[in-house]
Amino acid sequence: MNYTYLDCLAMFGVGGAHPGGLRLTKNILSSLDLDETKTVLDVGCGTGQTSAYIAENYRCKVISLDSNQIMLEKATKRFSERQLPIEVKHGRTENLPLDENFVDVVLSESVTAFTDIPLTIQEYKRVLKQGGVFIAVEMVLETPLPKEDVKSVIDFYGVHQLLTEQEWYDLLQNAGYKQIEIEKVKTEFDKNDVDNAADFSLSENIDGGLYEILAEHERLTKTFQDILGFRVFKGYIS
Ligand SMILES: C[S@@+](CC[C@H](N)C(=O)[O-])C[C@H]1O[C@@H](n2cnc3c(N)ncnc32)[C@H](O)[C@@H]1O
Repeated sequence: MNYTYLDCLAMFGVGGAHPGGLRLTKNILSSLDLDETKTVLDVGCGTGQTSAYIAENYRCKVISLDSNQIMLEKATKRFSERQLPIEVKHGRTENLPLDENFVDVVLSESVTAFTDIPLTIQEYKRVLKQGGVFIAVEMVLETPLPKEDVKSVIDFYGVHQLLTEQEWYDLLQNAGYKQIEIEKVKTEFDKNDVDNAADFSLSENIDGGLYEILAEHERLTKTFQDILGFRVFKGYIS
């Protein structure tokens, strides 16, 4: 069977599968004014590490959405083990199963880049309340890359395109986000940091092909370490 990178994350059940991991998530959340009156939509929630952290620490209403059923099963298991009242939804970011004007925060941690970006960011805007904010930790192309290398990265990760910081900015602006903030975050890996502790929820019968995908991910990350970066984007809708 041919596996995708996202299949691989789902089968290994990788939690905190975004640059900066839980440490960056905590920093981002601490900059927001979250309390029990707020609703946060964790799009592409994966195995739910971030959603669980938000529910436990801020007591706000959390909706966790993902298009991958394996991810959602693992997220649901995490939430029920911790008795967290999180609403889990199966769906796609391009067509969110939510009413308009519904959430205060849309959080996308390494998700939007995998989607049809223009459609997705319109959907985020539709479900956000006035005064709401979209926050994303997403990959950017730091410097130009030969076409064949762009193709390898796009094909491997299954993304539609590789965007520069400016291209992300332009898309957000065209979608009508009023105030856009972009932060370049430096992450330093500290193996003693508990936020970097492994968070896996393995499926049974992991096929050998999935280890090859992990190895290719490591190889690409190393090869393009100075070319593929990431940013924290914040887009306010009023
Ligand atoms: C790199 S993982 C990140 C997971 C999680 N946010 C985290 O940081 O651990 C990307 C996630 O986005 C989900 N995803 C990708 N495209 C999606 C889409 N169009 N709609 C909803 N979820 C999507 C994948 O299933 C996967 O769980």
